[in-house]
Amino acid sequence: MKNSFRLPNKVCRDIIKYQTIRQKELKKEGINMVITEKIQDAINQQINAELYSAYLYLSMSAYFETQNLSGFAKWMKGHAQEELTHAMKFYEYVLERMGKMALQAIPAPPAKWDSPVAAFEQVYQHEQKVTALINALLELATTHKDYATCALLQWFVNEQVEEEANTCKMLEKAKLAGASVGALFALDHQAGKGKD
Ligand SMILES: [Fe+2]
Ligand SMILES: [Fe+2]
Repeated sequence: MKNSFRLPNKVCRDIIKYQTIRQKELKKEGINMVITEKIQDAINQQINAELYSAYLYLSMSAYFETQNLSGFAKWMKGHAQEELTHAMKFYEYVLERMGKMALQAIPAPPAKWDSPVAAFEQVYQHEQKVTALINALLELATTHKDYATCALLQWFVNEQVEEEANTCKMLEKAKLAGASVGALFALDHQAGKGKD
């Protein structure tokens, strides 16, 4: 592009030279702020898992709309949005640690479920799966003595406690509503107001 700004080559070379020297110094002091490839790849995979969560919940939101359960649809859409912020948190972090992004294809989520209970069952199971992924990531970061990544992951560990509790509560309530249309609509109304 004609008007795009570009640093002169010499300046670029100097920055790279400075970064290399600084990294060597930090390494000597036992501090390696450049993310290792192994952790970087694992976080890249986690970004994919978070984006898949967003996709799955968005698909569920659409399913609930078709069932005239707009409260559940809103609840799921909110969760999808939250998953996007999780993906972005990891994304910013990898770049901040001078890592490389390698965005992968996101698998297609299911488009329909047998019942609201079946959908919430899958949400809860999915959150449990994500918790296991976060824990495995934390284990990897701990083994590699990557304390910065450990600190980031601690936030996700706490977040998952909340996510599992909320989705489990929703599933249990949906089960209680059972075949009662009235109870299901009351629950849908409650969910639409942002109450779990
Ligand atoms: Fe998440
Ligand atoms: Fe989640």
